[in-house]
Amino acid sequence: MKLLVTGGAGYVGSVVTALLLREGHEVTVLDDLSTGHADAVPEGARLVVADVREAADVLDPSVDAVLHFAAKSLVGESVADPGPYWRTNVSGTLALLEAVRRHGVRRLVFSSSAATYGEPASDAPIRETDPAVPTSPYGASKLAVDHMLESWSRAHGLGAVSLRYFNVAGAHLGCGERHDTETHLVPNLLGVAAGEGGHATVFGTDYPTRDGTAVRDYLHVADLAEAHLRALEHARPGVFRVHNLGTGGGHSVREVIEAVRRVTGRPVPVVDSPRRAGDPAVLVAANDRARGELGWEPVRTLEQTVADAWEFTLARRNAV
Ligand code: UFG
Repeated sequence: MKLLVTGGAGYVGSVVTALLLREGHEVTVLDDLSTGHADAVPEGARLVVADVREAADVLDPSVDAVLHFAAKSLVGESVADPGPYWRTNVSGTLALLEAVRRHGVRRLVFSSSAATYGEPASDAPIRETDPAVPTSPYGASKLAVDHMLESWSRAHGLGAVSLRYFNVAGAHLGCGERHDTETHLVPNLLGVAAGEGGHATVFGTDYPTRDGTAVRDYLHVADLAEAHLRALEHARPGVFRVHNLGTGGGHSVREVIEAVRRVTGRPVPVVDSPRRAGDPAVLVAANDRARGELGWEPVRTLEQTVADAWEFTLARRNAV
């Protein structure tokens, strides 16, 4: 297929691009490099450096589908400075959808987030039918796009699939996480293990969980990427569908720290600190819908996820 990948110079976008190329697809990446890296775009893809609002210039009727990753994605930053989140994530996507319609592109896969659900009512795995009440402008912007896609599929016949990611980690096909501002747990722990600095921080030790630290559903980016291929195959004209992407199981912050210590064999000093504002105790995906409808199955363990992220961390350190 001939595909446009927005945000293909970013973490998840680059991994999905690499997998699409491996499967024989033709990929153009549209990325403004505001947070992505030109050298993260896998070899074999064409890179167009431009804002997602310029999508009309790179689309044409021969494009079979768009995979839309370009977005701002830091929860805390979105609370402190929401404007760029609405501008990029909502206005940017609106411009993309107008271009998609103009050029008659029939299918779109969207990178959505568990942040659309906000604070869950219980610790039970979250279902797609649960209330979506985001607690940050980031989550609200992703939910707004889900609504936008639904209206586009109803009115204009777009086949759209929105994939709500839980916690993505790991590396695949030489692509991994390279954020200039790193807030995520796994890369922060690996940075400490690699000797980048002092200690890691545990945000919150008084949660009502098995060891007092927050529980999240960590999904290997390779499993996540494979779901995008399934979603592309399943997108049907006029149908909009949301799918959670997670393993269906959770690990506490302390369990992730232990996994990092085991995999790296390095000391990882940690300091306990108060909760980060807005972090729920437990976020775990019910993934039955993606399994049943997309025929998708996440297979990689937390250990594998950490090991692949570690290998990527070491390779990058050796490369610079
Ligand atoms: N954490 C630490 N120390 C750190 C970093 C994180 O203890 O240095 C904790 C957090 O408090 C949280 C867990 O580790 O309990 C995971 O934190 P991340 O920052 O890695 O991920 P989040 O669960 O906060 O964020 C994820 C996605 C977001 C999405 C959000 C939904 O990365 O895109 O879930 O709430 F919006």
